[in-house]
Amino acid sequence: MIKDQYILGIETSCDETAASIVKNGQEIISNVVASQIESHKRFGGVVPEIASRHHVEQITMVIEEALKQANMLPEDLDAVAVTEGPGLVGALLIGINAAKAFAFANSLPLVGVHHIAGHIYANALVQPMEFPLLALVVSGGHTELVLMKEDGQFDLIGETRDDAAGEAYDKVARVLNLPYPGGPHIDRLANESDGAVPFPRAWLEEGSYDFSFSGLKSAVINYQHNAEQRGEEINPNHLAAGFQESVIEVLTAKTLRAAREFNVKQVIAAGGVAANKGLRKSLEETFVNENIPFYVPPISLCTDNAAMIAAAGNSKFSAGKTSDMSMNGRPGMELNSWK
Ligand code: KG4
Ligand code: ZN
Repeated sequence: MIKDQYILGIETSCDETAASIVKNGQEIISNVVASQIESHKRFGGVVPEIASRHHVEQITMVIEEALKQANMLPEDLDAVAVTEGPGLVGALLIGINAAKAFAFANSLPLVGVHHIAGHIYANALVQPMEFPLLALVVSGGHTELVLMKEDGQFDLIGETRDDAAGEAYDKVARVLNLPYPGGPHIDRLANESDGAVPFPRAWLEEGSYDFSFSGLKSAVINYQHNAEQRGEEINPNHLAAGFQESVIEVLTAKTLRAAREFNVKQVIAAGGVAANKGLRKSLEETFVNENIPFYVPPISLCTDNAAMIAAAGNSKFSAGKTSDMSMNGRPGMELNSWK
């Protein structure tokens, strides 16, 4: 009988301090997330220095709480997985140093995990992953199409050339005076809307799987400013709906084209923007029609958490890939295969 494998995951790359214990890369035993959103709201975005301070205050308690909720001791664990990058360097270092200290004190192996690999493996907590698999990764910092031919193997087939989808959401929300993070607010306004301002779609050159959202973002901001200068009232719902329609149409169409070209067995969505109701619906409908299984994790596993880091760490650890005590925070880390 194969022994069960328990991984402690730690995530501190941005504004959530999180720890989680996951069994065999599939089953969440505990999942603790301490969000800092309230502290960053008044600045309209994440302030790196404040993020680091919060992580320092929270990290020990969050790890202890993850063990307590799992009713486990450090010696019940097989490895410690931690987000190595990308992210805010000061924030990453808090999690990495906590992970190193915990691993050293308890003689456990250490596994450095790419944050986006984590977002993708959030799906393994819901449904076994089947390969070849196509992942649409849409978060505050990334918009990518990743093809996985097998477990632990990643091919980046498209990415944003400027703003990430979540970044565009947050900037448009700011213009509409919505609180940070703006994505969920735009989503809500768009869903309540009875009309939509027509905005352009950034398809880029024929055949490209890359994305671009800065032109759309500027179009929305200009529309709002022009209306303001003319003293006209704009309907924020229509603006949000028009913006969201453009984002969703491009994301869905490129994901569909890639799924067909690479003949994938499964399509998944990952990252904070995958929490978007309109996007989930559009992808679900598209892939039902296409007869390709499509999955997206529950919203709590789309936004930053440590269960996803433990799940990805489980795969990397099983492939025999561990890190040593020289591990450093890597703000610009690339998504490399571990198989
Ligand atoms: O993955 P995530 O939690 O953090 C990063 O790794 O960046 O993603 C955060 C992003 C933010 O830009 C936030 O506005 C966006 O995800 N987001 C949404 C929704 N919920 C969160 N965007 C659109 N619709 C949503 N419902
Ligand atoms: Zn993230």
